[in-house]
Amino acid sequence: MDLFEYQARDLFEAHNIPVLGGAVAFTAAEAQSAAEAMGGKVVVKAQVKVGGRGKAGGVKLAVDAADAREKAEAILGMDIKGHTVHKVMIAQAAPIAEEYYMAILLDRANRNFLVMASVAGGMEIEEVAHTQPEKLARVGIDPNVGISAAKAAEIVKAGQFPADVADQVADVLVKLWAAFVAEDATLMEINPLVKTEDGRIVALDGKVTLDDNASFRHASHEALEDHASANPLEAAAKAKGLNYVKLDGEVGIIGNGAGLVMSTLDVVAYAGEKYGVKPANFLDIGGGASAEVMANGLSIILGDPDVRSVFVNVFGGITACDAVANGIVQALAILGDTATKPIVVRLDGNNVLEGRRILNEAAHPLVQQLETMDGAAAKAAELAAK
Ligand SMILES: Nc1ncnc2c1ncn2[C@@H]1O[C@H](COP(=O)(O)OP(=O)(O)O)[C@@H](O)[C@H]1O
Ligand SMILES: [Mg+2]
Repeated sequence: MDLFEYQARDLFEAHNIPVLGGAVAFTAAEAQSAAEAMGGKVVVKAQVKVGGRGKAGGVKLAVDAADAREKAEAILGMDIKGHTVHKVMIAQAAPIAEEYYMAILLDRANRNFLVMASVAGGMEIEEVAHTQPEKLARVGIDPNVGISAAKAAEIVKAGQFPADVADQVADVLVKLWAAFVAEDATLMEINPLVKTEDGRIVALDGKVTLDDNASFRHASHEALEDHASANPLEAAAKAKGLNYVKLDGEVGIIGNGAGLVMSTLDVVAYAGEKYGVKPANFLDIGGGASAEVMANGLSIILGDPDVRSVFVNVFGGITACDAVANGIVQALAILGDTATKPIVVRLDGNNVLEGRRILNEAAHPLVQQLETMDGAAAKAAELAAK
């Protein structure tokens, strides 16, 4: 889950990372009163989960509360890279002397964590990383050791931070690592981390990604979720504990195992080229494809108005094909008249003959079986094109 900037600010504050005052506002009037409470000179910042807000005109300095109202009026409703601005953050304005960059992230390629730090932070950091990579220090972090004061000092040196801020920057690094671990994040980025005119180090913009796989141990993260802009099908699937991602095609996909579902998406995309149709979703029902899980999966997919056919692609393993076939039959009984779209099933693997026999015997009018994955993909694509 990605956080909004104001949520990242609150999280940083909770972990003693230096931030400035900030309040979220949904209307221009709320923006004005928040600015009044903050003493007038503020920055009005679009809250959208996308970078480059500054360059897009979504970050504006306001000289007083009335000005904050006007700036909020202009920013609310704005479109930034396809994201509509529904709320702004009213942030205390910082007297900026210098802008730095600091991030901790999961480095999948190296199976490690990585810190990136630079004294050339701010809105051009991507450009800096590209054209002057020597200005961006990259230091691997051993997860068993983390960022100690000594490690932080090493990073500060590698990033060539000036001596007058070295201790403060190192302190932020130690705290950012502590926050990263405590919250189970996969990314925590501060850009810019600024030095103010009076020599203080403050985080002015934060980007945080929390690891959803760890959400079970963070009851507090639930409140950070953005239900308002969640896709309703994804939200319904999540409530049922399904691994579902909505895509923009017409062929609904159910499979067992993420790898099989990914390759199913590929073969359907390939088969669909001929008809101009694509996969409508990713849905992995996992190992134990019980009738209930199958019914839940089918009901989500059949509830997607974009879906015109469904492809159930299951490879029997520990849960054998006969159990899956019974699951499909029972799921269709549970769904009754709400199931209205053609369903192509391909079963293979453990106890496949019995699985196919069960489906043949049930002879459900919506279901047809094909023996190969390519054949089934082609049939599902053809049905979706009708
Ligand atoms: N509270 C603030 N006070 C003063 N300047 C700010 C403040 N917040 C942001 N800025 C300025 O606006 C720029 C862009 O804001 P930022 O929050 O980093 O948005 P984005 O990264 O989406 O462009 C910053 O680099 C900084 O110069
Ligand atoms: Mg930024």
